[in-house]
Amino acid sequence: MKIFLDTASLPEIVWAAGAGLIDGVTTNPSLLAQEDSETDPRDHLTEIARSVSGPVGAEVVAVDAEGMYREGRDLAKVADSIIVMVPMLEDGIVATRRLTSEGIRVCTTLVFTPAQALLAAKSGARYVSPFVGRLEDIGQDGVSVVAQTREIFMHYGLECELLAASVRTPLHFIGCARAGADAAAVPPAVLRNMLIHPLTDRGVDQFLHDWSKRIARSRAGV
Ligand code: E4P
Repeated sequence: MKIFLDTASLPEIVWAAGAGLIDGVTTNPSLLAQEDSETDPRDHLTEIARSVSGPVGAEVVAVDAEGMYREGRDLAKVADSIIVMVPMLEDGIVATRRLTSEGIRVCTTLVFTPAQALLAAKSGARYVSPFVGRLEDIGQDGVSVVAQTREIFMHYGLECELLAASVRTPLHFIGCARAGADAAAVPPAVLRNMLIHPLTDRGVDQFLHDWSKRIARSRAGV
């Protein structure tokens, strides 16, 4: 499964890309707003695109079809790797159709039902993003939306990629992987939580302790 780092933080992107852990980056207006306010967001996106090989999601902030189309076209010029993220609104679907018919790759974001995902795929979206954690926030099963969407896409051979978003725990990640998501948008903190295990740390401590005893014995000639 592909992993897209869900952040606009350059140091985190450089770390994860250097470690070979990520296949792209997703951002949203909230994530970009957390970064240095002196830097033009487009320049920041350019830097992100230089730091990772793979798609970089950049979201429109207009909510009308014409505005989303224009912004999407501008964002697509920032770098070849930009995927324009368009919210799952009626106007968003219209804008998506226009953008994709011009060869611009779109990810439909803020998707919460399999029906929305199917409509996004029909409109030409290259990726569709169901938000797992936000569904759980309101007591619904986000992973099951990913699984149902996978099933529907398989029935009809849809080429749209399933990019699970709002993945907030390693369990969400595993659930999405088991459900057959093509990719997951994972925040840096969750990626680090997926890396670590206390038994790994305890095992390393034990090995080092035993090894230092062995060295001490051979130095003492025992
Ligand atoms: C994806 O594109 C979004 O940036 C993200 O996954 C949202 O996650 P959140 O619901 O934890 O804010």
